[in-house]
Amino acid sequence: MLGMRKVALVSVVLCCPGLTAMALDYVSDIMPIFDAKCFDCHSKREGVSKGSLQLDNLVDMEEIYIGPYASMKPGKPEESDLVRYISDPADPDTMPPKGKGERLTGEEIGLVKRWLAEGANVHPQKSRAMTAKTVSAEFHSWRNSGGKEIKARFAGLAGQKVELLLANGVKYSYPLDKLDTESQALARELDSKK
Ligand code: HEC
Repeated sequence: MLGMRKVALVSVVLCCPGLTAMALDYVSDIMPIFDAKCFDCHSKREGVSKGSLQLDNLVDMEEIYIGPYASMKPGKPEESDLVRYISDPADPDTMPPKGKGERLTGEEIGLVKRWLAEGANVHPQKSRAMTAKTVSAEFHSWRNSGGKEIKARFAGLAGQKVELLLANGVKYSYPLDKLDTESQALARELDSKK
């Protein structure tokens, strides 16, 4: 058991080269994962709270769901019930419930674990505001899979999203897999040079 925990911890630390300097941000890195696969049943926006849980309203529910005895344990992903629910399809409490939706991918589970390991912070991280140092000087063309093109500076990859800065200063967070293959490759290349 102890051995297994150690392995899991190492994989959390090694999972995301290039992201190691920045803590994950709940709103931009974790919530989109839950939006796609959990909000049908756990969302303030959608007006549903099965088991009284709203995954887009954890700021208000922090005392119930986040803490040493809660289902999300800061610093302890392997002991968090949430991780058991999303990782083990055989668990009676598995989420989404059996046959009721798409499961998280290994990569998504890795991000959730890393967010827990980093302290399960649900408050927006102002310190992550982009600085000139982290944003590319150059404007690049980005095309989505539908062929629509925008010009923007590259600010980084955060989880499954590419962060772009438009000429008017607006920050834009776009799902990597919705970009065309060329733009995805560009994002990865720019990220690897950071
Ligand atoms: C089809 C509906 C549905 C979907 C989709 C769903 N859940 Fe649930 N979830 C439920 C229900 C129903 C309960 C309450 C179970 C109970 O109380 O026995 C629940 C309970 C939970 C709980 C426990 C809440 C508590 O109070 O302890 C967590 C954590 C949870 N879900 C996480 C998730 C996550 C993460 C996802 C997405 C990966 C997800 N759920 C997707 C229906 C859903």
